[in-house]
Amino acid sequence: MAATKKNSNTKKSNTIKLKFDTSWQYAPAPENKKSATINKQYELFINGQWQKPLSKKYFDTINPANEEKLSKVAWANEVDVDKAVKAARHAYENIWKNMPAKERAKYIFRIARIMQEKARELAIIESLDGGKPIRESRDFDIPTAANHFFYYAGWTDKLAFAFPNRQTSPLGVAGQIIPWNFPLLMAAWKIAPALATGNTVVIKSAESTPLTLLKLAEIIEEAELPPGVVNILSGAGDTGAAIVNHPDVNKIAFTGSTEVGKIIQKAIAGTQKKVTLELGGKAANIIFEDAAIDQAVEGVINGIFFNQGHVCCAGSRLYVQESILKEVVRKLKDRLESLIVGDPLDKNTDIGAINSKAQLDVIHKYIDIGKKEGAEFYQSSCPLPKKGYYCRPSLFTNVAQSNRIAQEEIFGPVLAVLSFRTVDEVIEKANNTPYGLSAGVWTDKGAKIFNMTTKMRAGVIWANTFNKFDPSSPFGGYKESGFGREGGLHGLLPYVNLVNE
Ligand code: NAI
Ligand code: MG
Repeated sequence: MAATKKNSNTKKSNTIKLKFDTSWQYAPAPENKKSATINKQYELFINGQWQKPLSKKYFDTINPANEEKLSKVAWANEVDVDKAVKAARHAYENIWKNMPAKERAKYIFRIARIMQEKARELAIIESLDGGKPIRESRDFDIPTAANHFFYYAGWTDKLAFAFPNRQTSPLGVAGQIIPWNFPLLMAAWKIAPALATGNTVVIKSAESTPLTLLKLAEIIEEAELPPGVVNILSGAGDTGAAIVNHPDVNKIAFTGSTEVGKIIQKAIAGTQKKVTLELGGKAANIIFEDAAIDQAVEGVINGIFFNQGHVCCAGSRLYVQESILKEVVRKLKDRLESLIVGDPLDKNTDIGAINSKAQLDVIHKYIDIGKKEGAEFYQSSCPLPKKGYYCRPSLFTNVAQSNRIAQEEIFGPVLAVLSFRTVDEVIEKANNTPYGLSAGVWTDKGAKIFNMTTKMRAGVIWANTFNKFDPSSPFGGYKESGFGREGGLHGLLPYVNLVNE
């Protein structure tokens, strides 16, 4: 974070226009790429072995920070998916479902521990492949992913306590499809509860970020997990569709766009398959006039610019009470200027690279839409690297509730700022989107927090903070943000059949 002049909450500081000292530059502090090993080519991880794709197809994964190729990765087709599902079925019937729970737990603990040992390498690869700042992959993605394995390892032999007076049985083979914004973390959210409850897995990474899952396959090998219990595939939408449509898959867990979520729901209609969908969002972050304003501004910045705004629960709509609107907007603009955009491997970087050219195009499209809709546009003046996909942190003011930039998911570092006068008004506005994944409330009054949280339709509501995650806490949405919960005790439920005693 760049150096800032004193920024206190006193009356005086509210009236003086604060300027960030942009002349004080930090020297580059890059993480060492050499601490990570990336093979030139990766195959599919099926039945505990690295297998060449029967599709004979491969695709390149690039580093979005400089557009250079990182590796060539196998592309699984329908026949490869079938092989993986057969391996998972065989492992389920013959090994995993009959293994005593405490033995199963040992494998999951082992995966968690090896992930911790390799945390630095995993963080570097996550940043190289996806563009996120190393600070974030090092301090958030990788530790939280390992913590999910630890957490669910702990539940494995305690399912009777998770579901008192009920017996559980696993579902069978779980097909899991994940997006590119938190690759290893999304894999952990899905694999750990599936294994803990006795299911086997076929998982597919997203096309722009396959590498940390392939590293996870190496970890799984090292942990000596029985062959076929976890099968790791790379590929694109056709690979995902082949998993969804495979008749021997019992459960689908998907995180990604609402559009593909709808396709999946249609595809499995009329089958026995269970499904959980974690889709898009347009979270409202609400600041009341009684809030600690500097703290709220920092929370808003974290809420939308964290991971370049590539976050389904990003606080992309900001509602500010009218009496403090001017002050909040001024502080936001000052803070925007101080954010460092650049090399994801640099430890000073706040905002890394946009994940792909396609996503950068989507963000630019929405910036144009916002301008045409008549909203006022403000963008940081920071320099951008010459190569790679980058977007300066941006915000729109004078946004109307009906504007597309206030209704649709942009999935980039672009904030829409709106205002309100009363509690009832802001609840109505906050709920007025097709989504319902998350929200944030900033106020000094506990009663106001409870009032808001009971009336807002959002799966997670943070109060006086934002984007906080813990393996013991469930996550998931309402409406077009999907259904089902991941994380916590709730995250076990989508992977079991409950039998009455
Ligand atoms: P996407 O939904 O197409 O991709 C997510 C995953 O689904 C990838 O692994 C992809 O290969 C797979 N997939 C694609 N088509 C499929 C199909 N027919 N059947 C099964 N699997 C399929 O998302 P995309 O195109 O990468 O991003 C588009 C927009 O989606 C973003 O701009 C953002 O708004 C939203 N998104 C939301 C995410 C979230 O965390 N909820 C994550 C990624 C994107
Ligand atoms: Mg990549």
